[in-house]
Amino acid sequence: MRIAVVGSGYVGLVAGACFADIGHEVILVDNDRQKVAALTQGQVPIHEKFLPELLERHRGHRLTFSGDLHAAVEASDAVFIAVGTPSTERGDADLSYVESVARGISGAINRYKVVVEKSTVPVYTSEWIRKIILRNAAAPDSFDVASNPEFMREGTAVSDFFYTDRIVIGADSERCTAMLREIYAPLTDGSYYQRPDAIPRPDRAQIPPPMVVTSTKSAELLKHACNAFLAMKISFINAVASVCELVGADVHQVCLGIGTDSRIGSRFLNPGIGYGGSCFPKDLRAFRAVAREHGYEFRLLDEVMLINEDQRRRFLHKVHSALWTLRGKRLAVLGLAFKGGTDDIRESPAILVTQMLLQEGCQVAAYDPAAKERAREVFGSAVEFADNPYDAARGADCHRWTQSL
Ligand SMILES: NC(=O)c1ccc[n+]([C@@H]2O[C@H](COP(=O)([O-])OP(=O)(O)OC[C@H]3O[C@@H](n4cnc5c(N)ncnc54)[C@H](O)[C@@H]3O)[C@@H](O)[C@H]2O)c1
Repeated sequence: MRIAVVGSGYVGLVAGACFADIGHEVILVDNDRQKVAALTQGQVPIHEKFLPELLERHRGHRLTFSGDLHAAVEASDAVFIAVGTPSTERGDADLSYVESVARGISGAINRYKVVVEKSTVPVYTSEWIRKIILRNAAAPDSFDVASNPEFMREGTAVSDFFYTDRIVIGADSERCTAMLREIYAPLTDGSYYQRPDAIPRPDRAQIPPPMVVTSTKSAELLKHACNAFLAMKISFINAVASVCELVGADVHQVCLGIGTDSRIGSRFLNPGIGYGGSCFPKDLRAFRAVAREHGYEFRLLDEVMLINEDQRRRFLHKVHSALWTLRGKRLAVLGLAFKGGTDDIRESPAILVTQMLLQEGCQVAAYDPAAKERAREVFGSAVEFADNPYDAARGADCHRWTQSL
């Protein structure tokens, strides 16, 4: 099948490379010219395991890069929208990038196409995309809008694509569902996993993955609900950890006891400085906002967010209790990305804690081999970037490490 993926960031680039690997002809579109040029020349702009191999395998053959949305849509049967959906100042999702892509798609519908939301978007976005495309004179039966939320985790994004827990398809017509089923058929019929060059299967992966087919609205909503639930699990265990500290219990022993309950599971029960990254914080805010807009006050989410913010303050308090005053103290920070295996520092708790330490007058030496360059853009010369963890820790009064989720 011919596929256009619009937005070649963490999600679009990985999805595009993986679609090419399961046999589709993919055009990756981005409006960032420098990114398109870098990708065309063979550069890999993000740190993600197996991505360089897949790009090398398909670049220039089944995978091409372009800044021309119109031509890419004309040439494609399915168009995946994978642009950013950041928070606005009010906390709801900024859908202006999605709208601009929808407008660009509308003039290029030359035969039946499926327009697929890959970006995380609030419920009702598919209806807005449809309206925008119709307003720009596309015939109503010339396209469908579907939702195919992405559950990949940065750091294991490529493996997560092939060995996902489930593929969710939200579609409201048979024709559209059939097309999405066909796109994912190499995974759902198991043929991909027979290939000698398949990406290695991680432990515990279930193959072939089940496909969950829902209405478009349900698919949009379940992605927000999924991220909200995972963030809630993290805040829950952080709240439990705070009580443990007060009463002298060991939270890790408590986690073992809770996590072995098959109804709960051990994943995402890691106490730490809280969740961050480009998804959980903004998706919780967006889910909260969309619920309110439709008349439901989702107060549970307020508490999840408050506990998360509190973790950073609690951490700073701990540093104070270990070192008393902080001005002039040298601290080592090991890990700056929002978790291991990625260079993504968006809303990283490690960055936020480092900023708090700098405000307290500390000298900070940091080590993160993947996120160093991105972090340098934030801190400039305010932080010393070490080449290895030992150099960072040398002479430090205190050091910390980020715990991966
Ligand atoms: N990063 C993740 O782990 C993850 C996981 C699941 C879902 N998501 C969701 O996927 C979406 C994309 O996230 P991301 O992390 O890949 O974002 P990103 O910021 O890394 O990438 C977005 C890309 O879209 C491009 N873009 C913006 N406007 C464009 C336009 N009009 N035309 C063409 N390209 C355009 C940007 O240049 C950028 O390259 C978001 O909605 C996010 O919530 C992200």
